Amino acid sequence: MGAQLTIVRPESFGIAACRELMVLAGGFKTPLLGLATGSTPIPLYEALSERVRSGEISMARFQSPFAIDEYVVDDRDHPCANRAFFARYWAAIPTTGPVHQFDPTAPDLPTEAARFAEGLKDAGGLDVVILGIGINGHLAFNEPGTGRERATRLAELTVQTRASAALFFGDAVPTHGLTLGLGEILAARRVLLLANGEKKAEIVARALEGPVSSTCPASFLQEHPDCSVVLDTAAAARLKWAQAGPA
Ligand code: PGA
Repeated sequence: MGAQLTIVRPESFGIAACRELMVLAGGFKTPLLGLATGSTPIPLYEALSERVRSGEISMARFQSPFAIDEYVVDDRDHPCANRAFFARYWAAIPTTGPVHQFDPTAPDLPTEAARFAEGLKDAGGLDVVILGIGINGHLAFNEPGTGRERATRLAELTVQTRASAALFFGDAVPTHGLTLGLGEILAARRVLLLANGEKKAEIVARALEGPVSSTCPASFLQEHPDCSVVLDTAAAARLKWAQAGPA
């Protein structure tokens, strides 16, 4: 595995991820971030918000970041959609502008995906992408079977992804998502992959130590030239070579 790995106690996960993000972004004059949503990055965004508030970290030189995916819902203010997520977890983080988001209510979603991809291309592509990992190995909504070149698009969600989302959506889980493609994600100059909790242990081991294959899209990260991984001890528990000694 070529990735740089950090394993920490669960209570240090957010701080460790924040520290790593600052190291990765430090190499860029005006860093452009790709932002994951979901439960995994919340401790990072909270740690970052705290440090911005206290003046320890300034985000002023960061460009307006890009969200990496969005559920297709018919209300932009849906509590499980990006607008509510970033209002809650990113509001205290003043980059040069607001987070670029897909519009899941656009009348023509493939056109919306193309618009979003064009905006990212015009901005020069991502410097650092923050990623979670699905229990099926997806990155954003690039589900198993997605080729590494696939572009930003409207994507159908798998049964497994929908089952995980049911925790938040209840009975009305969306069938589709808008997602940055693996092409755009793997083209990020640096990657920060985050995973915590026991339920991610098996897929983390498959992604980082298993064969590189579209059956586990996150395994493509093994071939990324600059990938950092921050795990808590629970998510690292199945890795063969990492003795999960808390940092
Ligand atoms: P989670 O989702 O952070 O809510 O576990 C991760 C993902 O599906 O990418």
